[in-house]
Amino acid sequence: MVTISRIRTKTAFLASIRGKILLAFFVIVGVSFAVAATSLTDLVSEFLFDQRTREDMLLTEKVADQVSPLYRSLSLEELNQSLTDNAGTMDGRLLVVDGDGKVQADTFQELCGERLLLHEVIAVLLSGETEAYGMYSPGREAAERMSGEGGAASVAYCVHEITGPDNSRGALVFVSRIQRLMDAMSGVRWRLVRVFILIAVAALILALFLSQVLTKPITSLSKTMRKMGKGDLSVRVPVQGSGELRELAENYNTMASQLESLDKTRSQFVSNASHELKTPLTTMKVMLETLIYQPDMPADLRQEFMQDMNHEIDRLTGIITDLLALSQMDQGAESSKKERVQLSELTEETVRLLRPAAEKRGQRLEEAIEPGLEMTGDRIKLNQILYNLTDNALKYTQDGGTIRVSLNREDGELVWRVQDNGIGIPPEDQSHIFERFYRVDKARSRDTGGTGLGLSIVRQLVKLEGGTVSVESEPGKGSVFIVRFAEEAEA
Ligand SMILES: Nc1ncnc2c1ncn2[C@@H]1O[C@H](COP(=O)(O)OP(=O)(O)OP(=O)(O)O)[C@@H](O)[C@H]1O
Ligand SMILES: [Mg+2]
Repeated sequence: MVTISRIRTKTAFLASIRGKILLAFFVIVGVSFAVAATSLTDLVSEFLFDQRTREDMLLTEKVADQVSPLYRSLSLEELNQSLTDNAGTMDGRLLVVDGDGKVQADTFQELCGERLLLHEVIAVLLSGETEAYGMYSPGREAAERMSGEGGAASVAYCVHEITGPDNSRGALVFVSRIQRLMDAMSGVRWRLVRVFILIAVAALILALFLSQVLTKPITSLSKTMRKMGKGDLSVRVPVQGSGELRELAENYNTMASQLESLDKTRSQFVSNASHELKTPLTTMKVMLETLIYQPDMPADLRQEFMQDMNHEIDRLTGIITDLLALSQMDQGAESSKKERVQLSELTEETVRLLRPAAEKRGQRLEEAIEPGLEMTGDRIKLNQILYNLTDNALKYTQDGGTIRVSLNREDGELVWRVQDNGIGIPPEDQSHIFERFYRVDKARSRDTGGTGLGLSIVRQLVKLEGGTVSVESEPGKGSVFIVRFAEEAEA
């Protein structure tokens, strides 16, 4: 169990960004250092061994020149003397081998008379090479026998040809001790390993620090998201640093703000809707109770109560119809018909329909309609847009005021303007009036029967028909609502 959980923790760590950064750092530092160190030591040792080989060969050649005449004339005494002298200064062992590989002289006095069948000796005696060189590390028989140090040292053989009596071929063998050079090289290697360990530790610390810095914003983002997932939409990620992570935090915060405001709008909408539906119900209940508990109420008063209740039911039905329409549009269930609509005629009809209501309040309803304009769209929806806007203009204009409805073609667009010289809308409310249930003056709107859904429906309908709606207004002077539709190319 313990091992399984440990393995799991390990894989989880490697799967994390932190683990990956650490691993990448390590691999990069490790591989590059290993490559650099190996090539460096190779380069240095090649140079040093090359130099040593050259020196040894030169020395051997020099001694070969000296001893060659002594060997040829078989002056063995002098030969031995010369070899001993030279071996002393050369720090090594000198041997003379005859054409059969038999040792004729040895400064260690060990191998005289024995055959020395070294690879390099054979190369010079039999293959006709002038000289040969070879290196042997401890453990190889050739090194153990020849170093004279119990096989504990590395040696190099330098073999050079000499001429023996009767022009026979012989060889001078110089056994050179290269152990110190080897030691120096392994010293360098060890030092590099130590440096590598040091660098690795430094890299580990740096990688830990770096991964911490890099992953901190991500950790805090994920923490915030978890909180948000639990329902707290007010949490935000701290925006730090620069680059992609900063952008990520900023984008996330923007998204969170939008979600929060959406959530607020939604709950506000529900509470508004309940409130709007409850008001007529309460009124009706009061009236109904009065009717129940006062059975001897005069007939005309009873009639009036009934009419009021009927009016409230109409209002309730109106609100519910509007809400249903809005929710259908929200869900995208509302499909728009595509038919050829005579927009000029439609505008005239709407104005005609509302004229009696305007006249009742002594308002002037003017029209300026460019004839013959048409577009592709949904007749009922277009009618509803203009009806709602004109209805508002009449509602929010004092008795005797003027309302002007116009339709024009402007720069490839069909433009409706519904203008009034009524109460106007304060600047701070202008951006809100298209929101659901938003009313500038709650009390006054209630008197005129408004619920604040008309303009939100207008906005949705205009969107469905592919247009835009905007408002310009000045309190006390009046408002103008402008709807624009792109005039499509003639079919
Ligand atoms: N032409 C206008 N002049 C002044 N204020 C306006 C005008 N049109 C709209 N408003 C303001 O905008 C608010 C929202 O209008 P909207 O049409 O959405 O709701 P309503 O008219 O109050 O109710 P409903 O249209 O749902 O019956 C209104 O309550 C009113 O305060
Ligand atoms: Mg309205």
